[in-house]
Amino acid sequence: MAKTVTLTYEGKTYELPLIEGSAGEKAIDITALRKTTGLITFDPGFMSTGSCKSNITFLNGEKGILLYRGYPIEQIAEKSSFIETAYLLIYGELPTREQLDYFEYHIIHHSMVHESIKNFYDGFPNNPHPMAVCSAVVGSLATFYQNEISVRDEREIEITIHRLMAKLPTIAAYSYRKSVGRPLPYPDNSLGYAANFLKMKFALPCEEYQIDEDAAKVLDVLLILHADHEQNCSTSTARIVGSSMSNLFASISAAIYALWGPLHGGANQAVIEMLQEIQDNGGDVNKYVAKAKDANDPFRLMGFGHRVYKNFDPRSRIIKKLAHKILDKPGNKEPLLELALQLEEIAIKDDYFIEKKLYPNVDFYSGLIYKALNIPINMFPVMFAMGRLPGWIAQWKELQEDEDFKISRPRQIYTGAEKRDYVPLESR
Ligand code: CMC
Repeated sequence: MAKTVTLTYEGKTYELPLIEGSAGEKAIDITALRKTTGLITFDPGFMSTGSCKSNITFLNGEKGILLYRGYPIEQIAEKSSFIETAYLLIYGELPTREQLDYFEYHIIHHSMVHESIKNFYDGFPNNPHPMAVCSAVVGSLATFYQNEISVRDEREIEITIHRLMAKLPTIAAYSYRKSVGRPLPYPDNSLGYAANFLKMKFALPCEEYQIDEDAAKVLDVLLILHADHEQNCSTSTARIVGSSMSNLFASISAAIYALWGPLHGGANQAVIEMLQEIQDNGGDVNKYVAKAKDANDPFRLMGFGHRVYKNFDPRSRIIKKLAHKILDKPGNKEPLLELALQLEEIAIKDDYFIEKKLYPNVDFYSGLIYKALNIPINMFPVMFAMGRLPGWIAQWKELQEDEDFKISRPRQIYTGAEKRDYVPLESR
C-alpha cells in the first residue's frame, strides 16, 4: 500500500502521499495541500522543499557522495572529459563513440560567434565585469537565432545546446580580452575544449601560442567538477525561467546572473582574498583560525563549510590533488598554497570545525589553480559558469520533458497593510 503522512488540522485528518527517491530520500507530496486544506507551506530559502524530481545528479552531504547520472565524481574526473560529461548530464547515458564524435563535432563547429556580436564588446564601458558581459551576450544569442528557439522542438533544442556549449568559451574569452585591450581572436577548431579556451584567452596575434597540455587537462577536470550540483541557486533559476517556456538562451543568461553573487559562484575569489590578507599580515594562520571561531568576530574561513556537505566535499579532495599537480611545477610556486595547506591542516583537527562539520569545499583550492593559470580573479565565476553550463542545460531539458511540467509560481504569506483608502498628496 502506498505510504502516506497524516496531517491533522482543525479536527480533520488528511492523508498526504509520501514519495521516495531511488536513494531513499523521502518527501511529503503537498501538491494538493492548498486545494484540500486551504493551507500552504512556508519555507524561505527552500531548506526543506524539493522543487522537482530529477534523475541527473545525486549528492549525499553526510557521506560526501556526488554522482552524475549514477557515476561517482571521482571516476568521472579521472576517466572522462568535459565534453563527454556534458553529454552524460544532458542526455542521461555515457555516449557511444559515434554519439560522442557527433556531439563534439557540432560543438567544435559552432564555436564562432556572429561578427556583429563583437560590436557589443565595444559598447560596454571600460573594464566591465565579465559575468555581466557573458550573461548579456548569451541572452543576446536569442536575437540571432530567434527562429530556432522553440522549447518544444527537439531539433531546435539540440542545435541551441550545441551553440551554447560551443560559444560560451568564445564569449567568455572575449570578455577577458576586451578588458585588457586585446583583439578578439577566432576559435581554433583543431584544439580541445579547454585548450581552445586557453588559446582564445591568452594568445597574442604577434606570437606563436604554445598549448600547455597540463594546464588544459587541469582546466578540463575543473570544468567537470563544476558541471552539476542539483538544485542550487543558479540551476533553480534556469528551471524557473524555463518554466515559463522561455528559451534556453534566456534561461542560461539568467542562471549566469544568479551564479554571479558572492554567496554562490563568488566564494573562490573570497578564498584568494582571504589567503592574501593572511599573507600580507605576516602569515599567522592560527590567528585567523581563532578569528573564525570567535562568535563576536564576523570573519569566516572562506572555502570552509557547505549547506549540504557535512563531510569533505568530494570535489575538494580532487581539486587539492590538481592544485599540487599544477603548483608543484617549477616556476608555478605559489606561497598561498602553503598557507592554504596549513589552514586546512589546523582547521580539520580543531574541535570547532569538527563539531560544526565544517570541511574544505569546492572553492578552497580552485581559486589557487585559476590563479596559477593566470586567470584574473573577476574571471573565476566565469570559469564556474563554463563548467556549470551542461548542468543548467540538462536541468532545463529535464524540466521541459517532465510530465508534471508547470510554470513555477510560489505562494506567499502576505504581511502588509490591510485594505485602506487612498490618501491625497496634500493630506499626507
Ligand atoms: N568559518 C567559521 N565558522 C563557520 C563557517 C566558516 N567558514 N561556516 C559556518 N560556520 C559556523 C557558523 O558560524 C554557524 O555557527 P553557529 O551554529 O555557532 O551559529 C555554523 O557554522 C553553521 O553555519 P551556517 O552559516 O548556519 O550554515 P549554512 O549552511 O547556512 O552556510 C555556508 C553554509 C557555505 C554559507 C557557510 O559555511 C559559509 O559561509 N562558508 C564560507 C563561504 C564559502 O566557502 N562558501 C562556498 C560554498 S560552496 C560553493 C557553492 O556551492 O556555491
